[in-house]
This record gives sequence, C-alpha cells and structure tokens, in this order.
Amino acid sequence: MKVLPFIYNSPKEYWNYFQPTNWLEFVLGEINPLYSVSTAKAKVIAIHSESADAKTIVLQTNRHWKGFQAGQHVPVTVEIAGRRVTRYYSLSSSPSAKNPTITVKRQKGGLVSNFLNDRLKVGDVIELGQASGEFTIDPSALPDKLLFIAGGSGITPIHSIIKTLAESNYKGQAKLLYFSRFKEDIIFFQSFAKLETGNSWLEVKHVLTDVPSPGYESGFLTTELMDKFVPDLKERLVYLCGPAPLQTSAKEFLKDNQVISELFLLPTQIQTNYQSSGPVEVVLLQSHKTVLLKGEKSILEELEDQGIYPPSGCRMGICHTCTCRKTSGSVTNIKDETMSDSGEGNIQLCLSRVDEKLELDF
Ligand code: FES
Repeated sequence: MKVLPFIYNSPKEYWNYFQPTNWLEFVLGEINPLYSVSTAKAKVIAIHSESADAKTIVLQTNRHWKGFQAGQHVPVTVEIAGRRVTRYYSLSSSPSAKNPTITVKRQKGGLVSNFLNDRLKVGDVIELGQASGEFTIDPSALPDKLLFIAGGSGITPIHSIIKTLAESNYKGQAKLLYFSRFKEDIIFFQSFAKLETGNSWLEVKHVLTDVPSPGYESGFLTTELMDKFVPDLKERLVYLCGPAPLQTSAKEFLKDNQVISELFLLPTQIQTNYQSSGPVEVVLLQSHKTVLLKGEKSILEELEDQGIYPPSGCRMGICHTCTCRKTSGSVTNIKDETMSDSGEGNIQLCLSRVDEKLELDF
C-alpha cells in the first residue's frame, strides 16, 4: 500500500503515486477487493475436494475477465508470504457455467498448488489473467469419434471439454481413458460417473497405475488396453493431456491419428541428473547483480533458490512468462538437451540450464 508520497525518491514512483488510476484502483480495492479499474479478479465462493489431493475452486469473476473456451488455461496470481506468484491452471468447468472453476492438484513441493489446497478459503480474492491455449475444441466442427487420454491433473481441461460436449448435445461417440495412481487419486470421479450416465455417447475407463483395485483397469498404456478399449482408434480425433511419460507412450500408438495435445510437465520431471562441472557466473544486467548458478536445475529455480524471483507462470514451457533476453553465454534446453549458441537470443528461464558465463537482461 502506498502511504506517503515523500518516502518515494524515485521520480517514476513519485509520478506513479499521483496517477488517478492508481488511486482509483486503491480506493476500489478498499471498498471491495473484487473491484478494479482494469485487473481481472475472482472471489472464491466455494471449494470442493475432488480427490485425495485435488480441490476444485469455484470463482466469481469481476467484469474484466473475458471468459474462456473449454480446454484453455488461465494465469492465477496469489500473494504468498508477501510475494506475488503466478501459476497456470486449466479451467475445469464448462464456459457456460455462471461461476468458472479451476481444479488444483497438490504437487510435491509445489508452492502455489499447496497454498491453494491448504490456505485458500471462501471469500478470498485471487487475480486472474485472461484465458489462453490451443487445447480447445471447435463446437461448429465436432468429429464423429473422439478419444480423450489423460493422466493425473491433465484431466482438468478434458473435463471442461466433455462438459461442453454434453451441453451442446454432441451426437458422436467419445471415449475417455484416464490414468490415476490409485482409486482415491481419481479427479472428477463423481462428475464423470454422472456425465457417463446422462450421455450415452460417452464411455469412461479409469486406469490405476500404482495401486490396483477391484473393478478398475490397472497398469499403463499397452497395446492390449488400446485394442480392448478403442478397437477403432484410427478413426478417432485424439485429445491427449498429461505428464511427459504418458505423452511419450501414447504417441507411439497414435502415429496415424490427428492428436491435439497439451504437455503437463511437473518441475520434478524437467529436472535432470545432469552434473555440472562447477558454478557459473550469471550477470543480471538490469538488477545489477552477479550470481553463481550450479547449472543443475532450471535457471528459474536456481535464481529462486537465491531469493531472486523473475516473472514466471506455468513453469513448464507453455506460457512464455519467464522469457528473458540473453545477451551472451549459452544455455541448454532441459527438455530436449539442445544447447543454444552464445549470441543474443530469447530464452525461457524455466526450461534453460546455464552452461557458461551468462548475461541476462533482467
Ligand atoms: S514459466 Fe511459463 S514458459 Fe516458463
């Protein structure tokens, strides 16, 4: 909160202090935290448990939020211990729902996912960005046959899409193959049971990868499972969303299909066992700082370990919020292990590991 103008000695801050919009933003926020001149915000009006470690958060948005298409994701910004942090979550409701929802699965060590699961409460206000993403369906050209393959929290955009199909009176055939670790880990179990009962075009198969349970398919994606569940695989448009190992094995089966996919990479999945030869100097040009990074994790994580927080969102290479100008030095892309050249270029801090002395325009 801005208190007194004369404590600001930077002219820019002093000038900002007198901007009418800043005052209005402050006054509106004091009247109602949901009010804003231009920022999309949402009030939490309900929270439901969706599985052993996932919760659905029901939101009442203000007029600045422009809505979404089924399958898209949205940046969510919260303040944790005085620090603003942003992560991307898929909308899990259908776009026609009066109150949109996000469903957040707790990630091991995940700052925001754990905060949202443990600390967020009804009445809190969170900041939203506008929805984006290509993992969507065209309601005017729906194919006759669809197959959805999801793993873990990759189910959230698919839940939104299937709800939308149900609302639009879909006339084709859709199958969902959903991989969870164990029975209680299944997200939207009740919701899919209801959707399956009310829509004869939908067939859902739950597969448990870690703990088998009577009445459930168990194991991973195999030829037997695909042959049994989708003998007409080649005729289907496939929507695939989940972690990297699932995507890799699914794509083996889907060489002849049109596939629309979204990769859910967890931070632990993009860490490598790479052993660097020693700390590397990284110069942060705008911050006038030089830090030593080990080059064993993403630059984003290593900077955060040192208390430096560049803008970030999805932390998995999708949103480009962490894109930063590199003026010299080389980095390795930790997804595909390709090395950049040492000239100027944009890099994604969440996907880059430092290789040699680096200068960043940050
Ligand atoms: S944080 Fe989204 S691409 Fe890096």
